[in-house]
Amino acid sequence: MNFCSDNVTGASPEILAALSAANGGALASYGSDKLTERVEARLKEIFETDLAAFPVATGTAANALSLSLLTPSWGAIYCHQDAHIAVDECGAPEFYTGGAKLVDLPGEHGKLTASQLSDALARSGKGVVHQVQAAAISLTQATEAGTAYRPDDVAAIADVARGYGLGLHMDGARFANALVFLDANPADITWRAGVDILSFGATKNGALAAEAVVIFDKKRAEEFAFRRKRAGHLFSKMRFLSAQLDAYLEGDLWLKNARHANAMAKRLAEGLMAVPGATLAHPVEANEIFVDLPETAIRGLTADGFQFYRWLGEDKTLLRLVAAHDTKEADVTAFIASAKRHAARANERVA
Ligand SMILES: Cc1ncc(COP(=O)(O)O)c(C=O)c1O
Repeated sequence: MNFCSDNVTGASPEILAALSAANGGALASYGSDKLTERVEARLKEIFETDLAAFPVATGTAANALSLSLLTPSWGAIYCHQDAHIAVDECGAPEFYTGGAKLVDLPGEHGKLTASQLSDALARSGKGVVHQVQAAAISLTQATEAGTAYRPDDVAAIADVARGYGLGLHMDGARFANALVFLDANPADITWRAGVDILSFGATKNGALAAEAVVIFDKKRAEEFAFRRKRAGHLFSKMRFLSAQLDAYLEGDLWLKNARHANAMAKRLAEGLMAVPGATLAHPVEANEIFVDLPETAIRGLTADGFQFYRWLGEDKTLLRLVAAHDTKEADVTAFIASAKRHAARANERVA
């Protein structure tokens, strides 16, 4: 009954089976194998365009290496102040870009807006030798607040990026969750809207450890191959990363898993709204919920064995609850019942 993260889960059985199936016999190394080719072919089909796809093992590597293609070392990357690249990657983007600066901006419900970026870029000191030079924008889809950028939001931000000659990166660690919520076409919220590079996540949504860097602007791909190798992320037995991605995409497992996770999150959020004093900090659009609950309910939930994070610190009552591809409906029901029971007991004591 662990709602801490979609990283605390195991992998989808289909993905484990694919690893086992990929285990037999000799296969070309360093990504020259059939499985890696097939992953790229599947992604071309899904995104309805020619592209280059590079499997890596972590989201941090996907993001930091992607950004290294979009900025010189004296450049600036604009992102949300809660972006994973800004707060959770231990300086990997700065390291892999050779020292580019992250300029982090506030934004309601985890999102940046085109007008805000436009204002910030107008003040960015273009051509001023004393200042870092704006080079890229990075959006997170779904955001760190569990919300999703609409295709129009992405397109408006891409317009601003183009106006200033910037690259547009999307951290899609939870891309599938955003996609199924939006009921959108993958192309419409990425390259057609102006995204140059996507970190296409799989780990949180059923893989063991696999993400793909999807480069829509193919002329950047050759450089990426060298950057990935130099960073130590070119796996000799690439088949095992690719087998995960291949199974993830096969039969739309990625969409099925994300639909389940989102549905569980929605159910949880709706159920918790019946707890007196409960409030949501952000709209629930993907698989993460940010909910404020009475302290007595939180203590009771913990005593009942539920695990989750208090988001803003141990003395705060805002919780982050994350549903995943394998979240059980019974656990969601039990969580809601426990929260209600403990909140009601507190009210009885007050009365
Ligand atoms: C928005 C986002 N991006 C990227 C990542 C990937 O991080 P990791 O390097 O831990 O795979 C995460 C994981 O928590 C995340 O939440």
